[in-house]
Amino acid sequence: MLERLEELERQALTELEGITDEAGLNAWRVKYLGRSAELGVILAGLRELSKEDRPAVGRRANEVKLNLESTLQTRVEALRVAALERSLQEERLDVSLPGRKPILGRIHPANQTLRQIYNIWAEMGFQIYLSREVETDDFNFGLLNMPEHHPARDMWDTFHTTATGVLLRTHTSPGQIHVMRERAPEPIRVILPGMCYRYEQSSTRAEIQFNQVEGLAVGHHITFADLKGTLNAFARRMFGEHVRTRFRAAHFPFTEPSAEMDIECFICEGKGCSVCRRSGWLEILGCGMVHPIVLRNGGYDPTVFTGFAFGMGPERITMLKHGIDDIRYFWGNDLRFLEQF
Ligand code: PHE
Repeated sequence: MLERLEELERQALTELEGITDEAGLNAWRVKYLGRSAELGVILAGLRELSKEDRPAVGRRANEVKLNLESTLQTRVEALRVAALERSLQEERLDVSLPGRKPILGRIHPANQTLRQIYNIWAEMGFQIYLSREVETDDFNFGLLNMPEHHPARDMWDTFHTTATGVLLRTHTSPGQIHVMRERAPEPIRVILPGMCYRYEQSSTRAEIQFNQVEGLAVGHHITFADLKGTLNAFARRMFGEHVRTRFRAAHFPFTEPSAEMDIECFICEGKGCSVCRRSGWLEILGCGMVHPIVLRNGGYDPTVFTGFAFGMGPERITMLKHGIDDIRYFWGNDLRFLEQF
């Protein structure tokens, strides 16, 4: 029995030396120190031994048990230290490495143009007024001199909501009525920027959503000359001191007379190219003198007050400035496009 204990001890210790991981240690513990391990069986069976053998075997068996337990403890400790050492080696930080550059977001190209437009109009004394994107039929059309069934409504393909008479604004012009009703009879100089929506087949030139910047001036002696002078001043600041402009007669139900403003094509300087479709001119906004009916709907007496209004599309202006040939890039969220600005 004593020899068996020696043998067992030697075998256990040799095996323990070769173990390098936690799972191995656990298996070893079960094998040699567990309840049904041979050593345990010997200890449990001590009382069956003869009186002479019992003390010596008992003492030796307990020694072996203590020795195995303490050697195991030492081994566990050693493995823990080794593991720590290894992780310190492997995960060492080189604090002298240059850092990675954080990726910086940037201002969306449409917003860059919007901010430029705001600055120019702010310098000319125009306040920014925000107006709602969900409108009533009345504000989007009726109060702008387009009663129900007016054929001009066809110029604006409309997203209707499930509530009768409630729609997504097709242009920023309904904001004119909101400002006038809020300010009458004070003079007005505001711009109204914001998103507009049209029920359109999207294409390179048309999107179902886009920004507009509306402008409105109402006062006592405002004339068409003021309209032209102000818009010319804007064009010079937006497109350069030497830009040439022209006004073409147009028609909008809410302005009379109405016009569209072109700027000379800055790509070909008026010679004619693909961007200006060989015309030498680029259309950038619609404008006109506020229609008397619209003034009245806003709470201003048209025999006393006059005003001008205009509406421009910042995406279109951005496209012209940067030679972008498809308006759908603006809301496509393609980083390859956005990162160029
Ligand atoms: N609301 C017009 C459009 O969307 C633009 C416009 C605004 C024209 C103000 C004249 C005056 O086409």
